[in-house]
Amino acid sequence: MKKDLVNKISKKFAINLINWYSDNKRCLPWRETKNPFKIWLSEIILQQTQIKQGLPYYQRFIKLFPNVESLAFSEEEYVLKKWEGLGYYNRARNMHKAAKIVVHDYNGKFPTSYNELIKLPGIGDYSASAISSFSSNEIRPVLDGNVYRLISRIFHINNVITSSKSVKVFKGILNILISKKNPADFNQAIMDYGSLICKPKNPNCLICIFKSDCLAFKHNSILKFPVKKNNFLKKMRIFNYLVIIDSSKKIVLNKRIQKDIWQNLFDFPMIETKKKINKSDVRNYLASEHFIFHKIKSLKFEMTQNHKLSHQNLTINYWLIRIDGCLNDSVEIKKISNYPLPKPLHSFVSTLDRFLK
Ligand code: ADE
Repeated sequence: MKKDLVNKISKKFAINLINWYSDNKRCLPWRETKNPFKIWLSEIILQQTQIKQGLPYYQRFIKLFPNVESLAFSEEEYVLKKWEGLGYYNRARNMHKAAKIVVHDYNGKFPTSYNELIKLPGIGDYSASAISSFSSNEIRPVLDGNVYRLISRIFHINNVITSSKSVKVFKGILNILISKKNPADFNQAIMDYGSLICKPKNPNCLICIFKSDCLAFKHNSILKFPVKKNNFLKKMRIFNYLVIIDSSKKIVLNKRIQKDIWQNLFDFPMIETKKKINKSDVRNYLASEHFIFHKIKSLKFEMTQNHKLSHQNLTINYWLIRIDGCLNDSVEIKKISNYPLPKPLHSFVSTLDRFLK
Protein backbone atom coordinates (compact mmCIF):
# COMPACT_ATOMS: atom_id res chain seq x y z
CA MET A 1 0.00 0.00 0.00
CA LYS A 2 2.86 2.38 0.87
CA LYS A 3 4.71 1.19 -2.19
CA ASP A 4 1.66 2.13 -4.26
CA LEU A 5 1.66 5.61 -2.79
CA VAL A 6 5.41 6.01 -3.35
CA ASN A 7 5.00 4.99 -6.97
CA LYS A 8 1.93 7.18 -7.38
CA ILE A 9 3.61 10.34 -6.20
CA SER A 10 7.16 9.63 -7.34
CA LYS A 11 6.74 11.19 -10.77
CA LYS A 12 5.80 14.62 -9.51
CA PHE A 13 7.38 14.67 -6.05
CA ALA A 14 10.89 15.78 -7.01
CA ILE A 15 9.67 18.29 -9.61
CA ASN A 16 7.19 19.89 -7.21
CA LEU A 17 9.71 19.96 -4.40
CA ILE A 18 12.48 21.53 -6.51
CA ASN A 19 10.01 24.12 -7.90
CA TRP A 20 9.00 25.00 -4.38
CA TYR A 21 12.70 25.29 -3.46
CA SER A 22 13.54 27.65 -6.31
CA ASP A 23 10.83 30.03 -5.06
CA ASN A 24 11.49 29.66 -1.33
CA LYS A 25 15.08 28.62 -0.76
CA ARG A 26 17.12 30.17 1.99
CA CYS A 27 20.25 31.74 0.55
CA LEU A 28 23.12 30.26 2.49
CA PRO A 29 26.82 30.58 1.61
CA TRP A 30 27.47 26.83 1.41
CA ARG A 31 24.73 26.59 -1.21
CA GLU A 32 26.62 28.96 -3.52
CA THR A 33 29.63 26.67 -3.90
CA LYS A 34 30.59 23.21 -5.17
CA ASN A 35 33.84 23.27 -3.18
CA PRO A 36 33.76 20.02 -1.14
CA PHE A 37 35.96 21.47 1.61
CA LYS A 38 33.55 24.36 2.26
CA ILE A 39 30.51 22.09 2.00
CA TRP A 40 32.08 19.62 4.42
CA LEU A 41 32.86 22.42 6.89
CA SER A 42 29.25 23.62 6.75
CA GLU A 43 27.86 20.13 7.23
CA ILE A 44 30.07 19.40 10.23
CA ILE A 45 29.10 22.72 11.83
CA LEU A 46 25.40 22.15 11.10
CA GLN A 47 25.28 18.71 12.72
CA GLN A 48 23.21 19.35 15.86
CA THR A 49 23.46 23.12 15.39
CA GLN A 50 20.78 25.47 14.04
CA ILE A 51 21.57 27.54 10.94
CA LYS A 52 21.25 30.80 12.89
CA GLN A 53 23.88 29.71 15.38
CA GLY A 54 26.08 27.86 12.84
CA LEU A 55 26.28 30.57 10.17
CA PRO A 56 28.66 32.96 12.01
CA TYR A 57 30.90 30.02 12.90
CA TYR A 58 30.96 28.93 9.25
CA GLN A 59 31.93 32.44 8.13
CA ARG A 60 34.64 32.69 10.76
CA PHE A 61 36.01 29.21 10.02
CA ILE A 62 36.25 29.91 6.29
CA LYS A 63 38.32 33.01 7.09
CA LEU A 64 40.54 31.20 9.60
CA PHE A 65 40.87 28.04 7.51
CA PRO A 66 40.36 28.95 3.85
CA ASN A 67 41.55 25.52 2.71
CA VAL A 68 42.12 22.05 4.09
CA GLU A 69 45.87 22.62 4.58
CA SER A 70 45.35 25.59 6.90
CA LEU A 71 43.10 23.43 9.08
CA ALA A 72 45.36 20.38 9.00
CA PHE A 73 48.43 22.40 10.04
CA SER A 74 46.75 24.13 13.00
CA GLU A 75 47.14 22.87 16.55
CA GLU A 76 44.18 20.87 17.87
CA GLU A 77 43.90 23.20 20.85
CA TYR A 78 43.56 26.21 18.53
CA VAL A 79 40.81 24.49 16.54
CA LEU A 80 38.98 23.58 19.75
CA LYS A 81 39.25 27.16 20.95
CA LYS A 82 37.68 28.44 17.73
CA TRP A 83 34.97 25.79 17.98
CA GLU A 84 34.13 26.85 21.53
CA GLY A 85 30.43 27.44 22.01
CA LEU A 86 29.25 24.93 19.41
CA GLY A 87 29.51 21.95 21.77
CA TYR A 88 29.95 18.30 20.73
CA TYR A 89 33.70 18.80 20.59
CA ASN A 90 34.28 15.41 18.97
CA ARG A 91 33.05 17.03 15.78
CA ALA A 92 35.96 19.49 15.90
CA ARG A 93 38.50 16.83 16.82
CA ASN A 94 37.34 14.56 13.99
CA MET A 95 37.27 17.47 11.58
CA HIS A 96 40.89 18.22 12.40
CA LYS A 97 41.87 14.53 11.99
CA ALA A 98 40.01 14.33 8.67
CA ALA A 99 41.82 17.44 7.38
CA LYS A 100 45.18 15.80 8.15
CA ILE A 101 44.13 12.63 6.30
CA VAL A 102 43.01 14.62 3.26
CA VAL A 103 46.35 16.45 3.17
CA HIS A 104 48.41 13.28 3.55
CA ASP A 105 46.41 10.68 1.64
CA TYR A 106 44.66 12.83 -0.96
CA ASN A 107 47.33 15.45 -1.53
CA GLY A 108 45.00 18.12 -0.17
CA LYS A 109 42.28 17.43 -2.74
CA PHE A 110 39.09 16.98 -0.76
CA PRO A 111 37.21 13.84 -1.90
CA THR A 112 33.71 14.22 -3.37
CA SER A 113 32.56 10.62 -3.65
CA TYR A 114 30.38 9.00 -0.99
CA ASN A 115 32.63 5.93 -0.79
CA GLU A 116 35.73 7.97 -0.01
CA LEU A 117 34.02 10.49 2.24
CA ILE A 118 32.47 7.83 4.47
CA LYS A 119 35.96 6.60 5.42
CA LEU A 120 36.95 9.95 6.96
CA PRO A 121 36.57 10.50 10.72
CA GLY A 122 33.38 12.31 11.69
CA ILE A 123 31.64 11.60 8.39
CA GLY A 124 28.68 9.23 8.61
CA ASP A 125 26.00 8.31 6.12
CA TYR A 126 24.22 11.67 6.39
CA SER A 127 27.32 13.84 5.83
CA ALA A 128 28.75 11.62 3.08
CA SER A 129 25.41 11.76 1.24
CA ALA A 130 25.09 15.53 1.69
CA ILE A 131 28.66 16.35 0.63
CA SER A 132 28.75 13.97 -2.35
CA SER A 133 25.37 15.14 -3.66
CA PHE A 134 26.06 18.87 -3.13
CA SER A 135 29.59 18.85 -4.52
CA SER A 136 29.36 16.31 -7.34
CA ASN A 137 25.65 15.56 -7.83
CA GLU A 138 25.90 11.94 -6.67
CA ILE A 139 22.48 10.37 -6.23
CA ARG A 140 22.56 9.89 -2.47
CA PRO A 141 19.45 10.82 -0.50
CA VAL A 142 20.05 12.58 2.83
CA LEU A 143 18.25 11.41 5.91
CA ASP A 144 18.23 14.05 8.65
CA GLY A 145 15.60 14.96 11.24
CA ASN A 146 13.68 17.14 8.76
CA VAL A 147 13.54 14.38 6.18
CA TYR A 148 12.45 11.73 8.70
CA ARG A 149 9.60 14.00 9.75
CA LEU A 150 8.34 14.80 6.26
CA ILE A 151 8.56 11.24 4.94
CA SER A 152 7.13 9.61 8.09
CA ARG A 153 4.13 11.95 7.90
CA ILE A 154 3.41 11.57 4.20
CA PHE A 155 3.71 7.77 4.36
CA HIS A 156 2.41 7.24 7.91
CA ILE A 157 5.52 5.30 8.96
CA ASN A 158 5.10 3.93 12.47
CA ASN A 159 8.62 2.54 13.00
CA VAL A 160 10.83 4.25 15.58
CA ILE A 161 12.95 6.44 13.32
CA THR A 162 16.36 5.47 14.68
CA SER A 163 15.92 1.69 14.32
CA SER A 164 18.04 0.08 11.62
CA LYS A 165 14.91 -1.28 9.95
CA SER A 166 13.52 2.22 9.56
CA VAL A 167 16.69 3.53 7.98
CA LYS A 168 16.17 0.91 5.25
CA VAL A 169 12.50 1.82 4.86
CA PHE A 170 13.18 5.58 4.60
CA LYS A 171 16.17 5.13 2.28
CA GLY A 172 14.10 2.81 0.08
CA ILE A 173 11.42 5.47 -0.33
CA LEU A 174 13.92 8.30 -0.87
CA ASN A 175 15.86 6.36 -3.48
CA ILE A 176 12.67 6.27 -5.53
CA LEU A 177 11.68 9.88 -4.87
CA ILE A 178 15.06 11.59 -5.34
CA SER A 179 15.61 13.54 -8.55
CA LYS A 180 18.08 11.62 -10.69
CA LYS A 181 18.91 14.79 -12.62
CA ASN A 182 19.36 17.13 -9.74
CA PRO A 183 19.99 15.25 -6.48
CA ALA A 184 21.85 18.25 -5.00
CA ASP A 185 18.84 20.57 -5.15
CA PHE A 186 16.50 17.74 -4.18
CA ASN A 187 18.46 17.17 -0.96
CA GLN A 188 18.71 20.88 -0.12
CA ALA A 189 15.02 21.28 -0.90
CA ILE A 190 13.77 18.39 1.20
CA MET A 191 15.68 19.66 4.24
CA ASP A 192 14.32 23.19 3.76
CA TYR A 193 10.80 21.90 3.24
CA GLY A 194 10.99 19.94 6.49
CA SER A 195 12.30 22.89 8.46
CA LEU A 196 10.09 25.64 6.94
CA ILE A 197 6.77 23.86 6.16
CA CYS A 198 6.62 20.38 7.69
CA LYS A 199 7.74 21.76 11.06
CA PRO A 200 7.83 19.71 14.27
CA LYS A 201 5.20 21.66 16.26
CA ASN A 202 3.14 23.92 14.03
CA PRO A 203 3.39 22.48 10.54
CA ASN A 204 1.93 24.61 7.75
CA CYS A 205 -0.32 21.82 6.43
CA LEU A 206 -2.73 24.22 4.77
CA ILE A 207 -0.12 25.49 2.34
CA CYS A 208 1.70 22.17 1.99
CA ILE A 209 2.11 21.06 -1.62
CA PHE A 210 1.93 17.41 -0.54
CA LYS A 211 -1.20 17.59 1.62
CA SER A 212 -3.47 15.75 -0.82
CA ASP A 213 -1.15 12.72 -0.63
CA CYS A 214 -0.10 12.98 3.02
CA LEU A 215 -1.48 10.02 5.01
CA ALA A 216 -0.87 11.61 8.42
CA PHE A 217 -2.79 14.74 7.30
CA LYS A 218 -5.61 12.57 6.01
CA HIS A 219 -5.79 10.69 9.35
CA ASN A 220 -5.39 13.87 11.38
CA SER A 221 -2.30 12.45 13.08
CA ILE A 222 0.46 14.79 11.96
CA LEU A 223 1.87 15.38 15.44
CA LYS A 224 2.32 11.65 16.09
CA PHE A 225 5.16 11.60 13.55
CA PRO A 226 8.06 10.96 13.48
CA VAL A 227 7.87 8.16 16.08
CA LYS A 228 10.80 8.58 18.47
CA LYS A 229 12.31 6.33 21.09
CA ASN A 230 11.66 7.38 24.65
CA ASN A 231 14.86 8.79 25.99
CA PHE A 232 14.20 8.51 29.72
CA LEU A 233 17.36 6.40 29.96
CA LYS A 234 19.65 9.45 29.83
CA LYS A 235 22.57 9.19 32.20
CA MET A 236 22.45 11.63 35.15
CA ARG A 237 25.81 12.96 36.38
CA ILE A 238 26.72 15.37 39.16
CA PHE A 239 29.91 17.40 38.66
CA ASN A 240 31.23 19.25 41.70
CA TYR A 241 33.76 21.78 40.51
CA LEU A 242 36.40 22.94 42.96
CA VAL A 243 37.25 26.48 42.01
CA ILE A 244 40.47 26.89 43.95
CA ILE A 245 41.75 30.48 44.19
CA ASP A 246 45.23 30.95 45.61
CA SER A 247 46.80 34.00 47.28
CA SER A 248 47.98 35.43 43.96
CA LYS A 249 44.35 35.28 42.76
CA LYS A 250 45.10 32.52 40.33
CA ILE A 251 42.86 29.53 39.73
CA VAL A 252 43.62 25.86 39.21
CA LEU A 253 42.52 24.45 35.84
CA ASN A 254 42.30 20.84 34.77
CA LYS A 255 42.83 19.44 31.28
CA ARG A 256 40.26 16.72 30.56
CA ILE A 257 42.52 14.07 29.10
CA GLN A 258 40.29 11.09 29.86
CA LYS A 259 38.00 9.51 27.29
CA ASP A 260 34.80 11.25 28.27
CA ILE A 261 32.73 14.24 27.28
CA TRP A 262 34.77 17.40 26.61
CA GLN A 263 38.00 15.52 25.97
CA ASN A 264 41.02 17.88 25.76
CA LEU A 265 39.01 20.89 26.96
CA PHE A 266 39.78 22.59 30.26
CA ASP A 267 37.64 22.76 33.39
CA PHE A 268 38.31 22.85 37.13
CA PRO A 269 39.36 20.00 39.42
CA MET A 270 36.21 18.04 40.01
CA ILE A 271 34.55 15.45 42.19
CA GLU A 272 31.95 13.47 40.32
CA THR A 273 29.32 12.00 42.63
CA LYS A 274 26.06 10.08 42.45
CA LYS A 275 24.44 12.22 45.16
CA LYS A 276 24.49 15.80 46.32
CA ILE A 277 27.48 16.53 48.55
CA ASN A 278 28.04 19.02 51.36
CA LYS A 279 30.88 21.20 52.64
CA SER A 280 32.42 18.51 54.80
CA ASP A 281 32.54 16.08 51.85
CA VAL A 282 34.45 18.72 49.91
CA ARG A 283 36.82 19.32 52.85
CA ASN A 284 37.46 15.58 53.19
CA TYR A 285 38.20 15.32 49.54
CA LEU A 286 40.62 18.24 49.61
CA ALA A 287 42.39 16.76 52.63
CA SER A 288 42.82 13.46 50.82
CA GLU A 289 44.14 15.07 47.63
CA HIS A 290 47.82 15.80 47.57
CA PHE A 291 47.69 19.10 45.75
CA ILE A 292 46.23 20.95 48.69
CA PHE A 293 48.88 21.33 51.39
CA HIS A 294 47.83 24.89 51.99
CA LYS A 295 45.49 26.21 54.60
CA ILE A 296 41.92 26.67 53.40
CA LYS A 297 40.84 30.25 54.13
CA SER A 298 37.24 29.79 53.06
CA LEU A 299 35.06 27.23 51.35
CA LYS A 300 31.60 27.96 50.09
CA PHE A 301 28.98 26.68 47.72
CA GLU A 302 28.56 29.19 44.88
CA MET A 303 25.92 28.02 42.42
CA THR A 304 24.33 25.11 40.64
CA GLN A 305 23.50 24.66 36.98
CA ASN A 306 21.68 22.02 34.94
CA HIS A 307 22.96 21.20 31.50
CA LYS A 308 21.52 18.74 29.00
CA LEU A 309 23.69 16.88 26.53
CA SER A 310 22.36 14.45 23.95
CA HIS A 311 22.92 11.38 26.17
CA GLN A 312 23.50 12.84 29.60
CA ASN A 313 21.92 15.30 32.00
CA LEU A 314 24.49 17.14 34.07
CA THR A 315 24.10 18.91 37.38
CA ILE A 316 27.08 21.20 37.80
CA ASN A 317 27.88 22.57 41.26
CA TYR A 318 30.57 25.16 41.82
CA TRP A 319 32.45 25.28 45.12
CA LEU A 320 34.65 28.27 45.77
CA ILE A 321 37.76 27.54 47.80
CA ARG A 322 40.26 30.23 48.81
CA ILE A 323 43.61 29.05 50.03
CA ASP A 324 46.62 30.59 51.70
CA GLY A 325 49.69 30.28 49.50
CA CYS A 326 50.45 29.98 45.82
CA LEU A 327 49.99 26.93 43.65
CA ASN A 328 52.37 26.10 40.81
CA ASP A 329 50.02 25.38 37.96
CA SER A 330 47.32 27.92 38.66
CA VAL A 331 46.23 30.32 35.90
CA GLU A 332 45.59 34.07 36.02
CA ILE A 333 41.87 34.81 36.04
CA LYS A 334 41.99 36.98 32.96
CA LYS A 335 43.77 34.24 31.01
CA ILE A 336 41.21 31.51 31.75
CA SER A 337 39.04 32.44 28.81
CA ASN A 338 42.00 31.82 26.45
CA TYR A 339 41.63 28.09 27.15
CA PRO A 340 39.02 25.98 25.34
CA LEU A 341 36.28 25.55 27.94
CA PRO A 342 33.03 23.53 27.83
CA LYS A 343 30.09 25.77 26.98
CA PRO A 344 28.19 25.50 30.31
CA LEU A 345 31.24 26.86 32.15
CA HIS A 346 31.33 30.13 30.22
CA SER A 347 28.78 32.00 32.29
CA PHE A 348 30.44 31.05 35.57
CA VAL A 349 33.92 31.88 34.26
CA SER A 350 32.69 35.29 33.11
CA THR A 351 31.86 36.12 36.75
CA LEU A 352 35.39 35.42 38.01
CA ASP A 353 36.52 39.00 37.34
CA ARG A 354 34.94 39.94 40.65
CA PHE A 355 37.95 38.40 42.43
CA LEU A 356 40.29 40.88 40.79
CA LYS A 357 38.71 43.86 42.49
N1 ADE B 1 21.46 21.40 7.87
C1 ADE B 1 22.44 20.57 7.54
N2 ADE B 1 22.85 20.78 6.29
C2 ADE B 1 22.13 21.80 5.81
C3 ADE B 1 22.11 22.50 4.59
N3 ADE B 1 22.93 22.16 3.62
N4 ADE B 1 21.24 23.49 4.46
C4 ADE B 1 20.42 23.79 5.47
N5 ADE B 1 20.39 23.18 6.63
C5 ADE B 1 21.24 22.20 6.82
